[in-house]
Amino acid sequence: MNKEPNKFKRYTVTSALPYANGPIHIGHLAGVYIPADIYCRYLRSIGEDVIFIGGSDEHGVPITIKARQQGVTPQDIVDKYHEIIKKSFKEFGISFDVYSRTSAKIHHETAQEFFKNLYDKGEFIEKTSENYFDEKENQFLADRYITGTCPNCDYEKAYGDQCENCGISLSPTELINPKSALSGNVPVLRETKHWFLPLDKYEPWLREWIVEGHKDDWKSNVYGQCKSWIDLGLKPRAVTRDLNWGIEVPVKGAEGKVLYVWFDAPIGYISATKELAKETGKDWEPYWKNEDSKLVHFIGKDNIVFHCIIFPSMLKKEGSYILPENVPANEFLNLENEKISTSNNWAVWLHEYLKEFPGKQDVLRYVLTANAPETKDNDFTWKDFQAKNNNELLAIFGNFVNRTIVLTQKYFAGKVPELNNLDEIDKTVINELKTFPDKIASSLEKYRFREAQAQMMNLARLGNKYLTETEPWKQIKTDESRVKTILNISLQICGNLSILCEPFLPFTADKLSKMLNLSKLKWKDAGNENILKNGHQLEKPTYLFEKIEDKAIEEQVQKLLDTKKENVANNVNPAKEDINYDDFAKLDIRTGTIIEAEKVPKTKKLLKLKIDTGIDERTVVSGIAEYYKAEDIIGKKVSILVNLASKKLRGIESNGMILMAENELGELCFVSPTQDFRNGSEVK
Ligand code: MF3
Ligand code: ZN
Repeated sequence: MNKEPNKFKRYTVTSALPYANGPIHIGHLAGVYIPADIYCRYLRSIGEDVIFIGGSDEHGVPITIKARQQGVTPQDIVDKYHEIIKKSFKEFGISFDVYSRTSAKIHHETAQEFFKNLYDKGEFIEKTSENYFDEKENQFLADRYITGTCPNCDYEKAYGDQCENCGISLSPTELINPKSALSGNVPVLRETKHWFLPLDKYEPWLREWIVEGHKDDWKSNVYGQCKSWIDLGLKPRAVTRDLNWGIEVPVKGAEGKVLYVWFDAPIGYISATKELAKETGKDWEPYWKNEDSKLVHFIGKDNIVFHCIIFPSMLKKEGSYILPENVPANEFLNLENEKISTSNNWAVWLHEYLKEFPGKQDVLRYVLTANAPETKDNDFTWKDFQAKNNNELLAIFGNFVNRTIVLTQKYFAGKVPELNNLDEIDKTVINELKTFPDKIASSLEKYRFREAQAQMMNLARLGNKYLTETEPWKQIKTDESRVKTILNISLQICGNLSILCEPFLPFTADKLSKMLNLSKLKWKDAGNENILKNGHQLEKPTYLFEKIEDKAIEEQVQKLLDTKKENVANNVNPAKEDINYDDFAKLDIRTGTIIEAEKVPKTKKLLKLKIDTGIDERTVVSGIAEYYKAEDIIGKKVSILVNLASKKLRGIESNGMILMAENELGELCFVSPTQDFRNGSEVK
């Protein structure tokens, strides 16, 4: 490959440590772990020295809130979810070199040492100030224990440390209308001592480093957010908390206090590197301290402030660490047009997906990369998932590989046939084939993973089209030598695909290499037509992808509908304000019978009914046409409010109102007498 010499000797690639307070869903995978994994697999394939770091974030209020909800200890929570999360990552082929956890001893030590170092250097401001306190719960309220309106964007559910809507970092006292997330009460102020990182003082170098220094190479969403926060003016951030879950603050006078979770968690990347180094016998320090190491943080957009402003400030002030070269943060993935929400169970959980679509990890990887929220929020829908599998993976990639190998088995007993005279079409295809490794690599190096994957798919497309146009199954009758050339070239494309698809579709790459009977090849082996030698024996073909039927997709859609129903059902409206009996007695409600019914023309919802109310026969226009057909309800007993002032609806005078119940989906049903009382009976 023709590339500029790389100034980096090694890569330290981190992926946000997920809170161990619940399982992992497709939003996590699409936003952080798949892009990070693609990047690392690519770097390994080009022979770079790379460490890919992951782990569970086990401190902070998200954990203690979950423990409280479930009536167990925070330790129970993190032990449970750490294992579940770790397993999901493994099953999806996220190729961490280490997956650690912040409850590890090495991490506690590393984080405390880091704090102590900054403390000894006099970097912190020690300050007693008034913090919010919940008197009912007898507890200080920090971070997610307190919510209120964001002073920056007016979002009403901002947390005490951050607004997840605009991303800005906050202090509880900046929230408008603060409320305790524990009791719902309005908190009071109480004095307490904390240690602050004076971010305001770091503004000049942050400006120089980010605003000046990374204008061109950071993604515009990341750069833009950082710049606007710096322009707004940074404030000192407390990095300690009055909580009983976390890492003890290792200085005198801080008894009973712990490190802020966002102080300790990113240090977890360093602790994990130490853990890895212990296993491999390597030195951890070059990965974090040598200028020729490239540090890249993969995160979601809600983590930008921490990875671009706060953690780099800590690293910088510590003094011996390198800073991130890039922080390719993604936006969010929605599910069927709605925000993914753990608390509403609006998500596709990885452990469930694996049960429902066993062996189809690559399909999800593919779809999530194709829809990656790289520059804006994006959407995952089951229909699109099915279409991408059936029309792309199966119809293009799978079909091409399968045709090639099956035909080679059939005509040449599975031995790679020789390349004979080249026609124009063959030369064009070979020339094009050569351009793929560099094209894909260049997108990957710019963190454009969707584009890179689309390029890889174009190679499969090229092969598929070549086979369709050259029609070896017809040629075989007249020109075997031509067929040899065609299948040789097609097989070379398969060989190239097995290398170039590996970062995106590792399981498929594995299967394909096995079918081709190739040992693990590297990126540099791609881009030529000599991957498979003449006479090389292939294995029997197996299917790379299978059709996903409508039924499987309908089941998933139904599951989401059920979730929605459940959510609405759990959300019964609270009672209205009290009234007295006299208010009620003003309503004159009677039993009646529908004696005529017809649809009001040109409306969707309205039926014109004639009701025998016992008092009279009258016309009522009712908005029930979506739920009842006119002919089905004649003779139906109903309850009717007879003293409602009359009103014209679509030119028809309506006298009174039929009583209906409305369920959580907005469906209506009659509230009818259950026995055959005479019309005009009073309802009281
Ligand atoms: N647990 C955090 C979240 O899920 C991410 C922590 S990233 C780290 O939003 F840098 F702190 F590790
Ligand atoms: Zn906000």
